[in-house]
Amino acid sequence: MKILVIHGPNLNMLGKREPEIYGTLTLAEINKKIKALAKELGLSVSIMQSNSEAEIIERIQKSNYDVLIINPAAYTHTSIAIRDAISASGKPAIEVHLSNIHKREEFRRRSLTAEVSHGQISGFGADSYLLALRAAKSLLSE
Ligand code: DQA
Repeated sequence: MKILVIHGPNLNMLGKREPEIYGTLTLAEINKKIKALAKELGLSVSIMQSNSEAEIIERIQKSNYDVLIINPAAYTHTSIAIRDAISASGKPAIEVHLSNIHKREEFRRRSLTAEVSHGQISGFGADSYLLALRAAKSLLSE
């Protein structure tokens, strides 16, 4: 069972980037937690980060996976192209956010990608990814 994890733009700056909103863990530290839990759950995980919309779309199109876990970051609110790639994949996607996007600025409350995702996990910091992995495991065993 293969999980593809995609971190969108500016998430490479975690640790330094607005720690009061996004926490103090770096992306490398979050990825370490994701890999450890994936191993425990018996899932194979492939992780990528990109600041480029095109690169994210290509990865969704070309990768072989069963469930996509994606934090599209700012593209959540703007990218019809990523939304279309998720929809065209025919695979379940779980949208993840470190912060609770529904209690922030008005423009963050709208997610174009959640509308084509199985569900959204938002507001639990790095644990949002870990909860998504557990949700992916249950989806795959349904
Ligand atoms: C984010 C929330 C987005 O609104 C923001 O643009 C991000 C990170 C989050 O994980 O909380 O870059 O996706």
